[in-house]
Amino acid sequence: MPTVLITGASRGLGLEFARQYRADGWEVIATCRNPSTAPALAATGAEVHALDVTDDAALKALGRTLSGRALDVLINNAGVYPLKSPQGSFGDVPVDAWMEALRTNVVAPWKVAETFIDNLTKAERPVLATISSKMGSIADAAAPGSVVYRSSKTAVNMVVKALALDLGPRGVICLSFHPGWVLTDMGGPNALITPEQSITGLRRLIARATPADNGRFLAYDGQEVPW
Ligand SMILES: NC(=O)c1ccc[n+]([C@@H]2O[C@H](COP(=O)([O-])OP(=O)(O)OC[C@H]3O[C@@H](n4cnc5c(N)ncnc54)[C@H](OP(=O)(O)O)[C@@H]3O)[C@@H](O)[C@H]2O)c1
Repeated sequence: MPTVLITGASRGLGLEFARQYRADGWEVIATCRNPSTAPALAATGAEVHALDVTDDAALKALGRTLSGRALDVLINNAGVYPLKSPQGSFGDVPVDAWMEALRTNVVAPWKVAETFIDNLTKAERPVLATISSKMGSIADAAAPGSVVYRSSKTAVNMVVKALALDLGPRGVICLSFHPGWVLTDMGGPNALITPEQSITGLRRLIARATPADNGRFLAYDGQEVPW
């Protein structure tokens, strides 16, 4: 059976990835900050490991624990949206929150890729999927606000492009995804689609990905998102 590793799987989209891959019979390695407060994740039957993606030492330790295991799919899902409008508007943007967003949403996906590259290259058609957001699209930006989150997702798109250039020649297909506006804690109650719809779409794209897709920015329904 193929194996997937998912970061930030305690709730929301990460949890739904774990559920769906398990239901399909995959071996699921799910990480979350605090497994003792993630009973829904344990209930999926996934192999759960504690990981704060901003903790470099913990990341290295997990890399050692999982050494030698092939990963068909690696999903950089963990993310934060520290300041929602009207917080974080011009004139009132706290630096600490911005740094937290950059550390979690930008630096960690790169460090996760560095940690598990040898696991990915053991698989036949490895996919490294990073959950970005259309809110990081410069072409799509039309209203003010949310600069902390937006800039972190713009930056992670460049991280994905850089990973695609580094790892594409090693056979790893690197993708940046917009999951849609989804009903999770982060997406809130006005979101447009369910986690099930979003993850069904993203899993379909991961399953169909070929080396020609390396470095693309796609929405859950397969549409290209402008950078
Ligand atoms: N929902 C949407 O509409 C939407 C739209 C576009 C993009 N996205 C992106 O999709 C991804 C998942 O979002 P979501 O909607 O599922 O958000 P969510 O419901 O807020 O869940 C976020 C997940 O990330 C984990 N996380 C945060 N910081 C972490 C860290 N330092 N180390 C490990 N895990 C960490 C959280 O763990 P804890 O339980 O420990 O806090 C939680 O499991 C994010 O990258 C987000 O930016 C979401």
